[in-house]
Amino acid sequence: MIIAVDGPVAAGKGTLARRLAAALDLAYLDTGSIYRALGAKLLADGVDPADGDKAARAAGSLTLKDLERDDLRDETVGQAASIVAAIPAVRAALLAFQRDFAASPPDGKAGAVLDGRDIGTVVCPNAEVKFFVTADTRTRARRRHKELLERGEESIYARVLQDLQDRDARDSRRATAPLKAAEDAVLIDSSAMGADDAFEAAMTVICQQNADR
Ligand code: CDP
Repeated sequence: MIIAVDGPVAAGKGTLARRLAAALDLAYLDTGSIYRALGAKLLADGVDPADGDKAARAAGSLTLKDLERDDLRDETVGQAASIVAAIPAVRAALLAFQRDFAASPPDGKAGAVLDGRDIGTVVCPNAEVKFFVTADTRTRARRRHKELLERGEESIYARVLQDLQDRDARDSRRATAPLKAAEDAVLIDSSAMGADDAFEAAMTVICQQNADR
């Protein structure tokens, strides 16, 4: 079973996807961390993330070790991720890794939950269940701001809001695999929902779709 969870910045995709994977005993892949790892690597090497040739070459040599960097959640890394993510050759280089994970999940799991921007539309268009998780912009900015403060980082709300809007705009307007809901995705607007409510709503959809199958 493949479950696709897509949505904009800080919509709660990761929390939902991780909980679904644990509850259903499926493998979990945060595809954003792959783009973040590439962005972080380029920044650390002093390479401009918008340099398509260098970014594509680095994407081809990305390893699982790169996904363990501890700076992946930094906002500068998030911006770099969204810049490299708009480069078609980078996306092409990272597609096989994501599809392989879905087709042969690690640890003998019977399926996988993937979260990102284009899972339901491009990476796993045949996923059994697709969710598009969203929330209004200010709610998402408040959540990300709180998350940064809880991690002990300095955070200015106005800057978080601006970064989030920049990244959403770049992710939605790019030509290759832009952020958008698949036609058969179920929309979860988490603006007025806590993590438990979003999880319950998603589990209800999964049970319903399994019963209909
Ligand atoms: O957690 P957050 O919503 O801040 O972002 P993320 O899921 O970690 O993704 C970081 C960036 O990677 C996004 O802004 C996208 O530009 C890019 N991304 C993508 O293009 N396609 C994916 N499947 C996942 C992430």
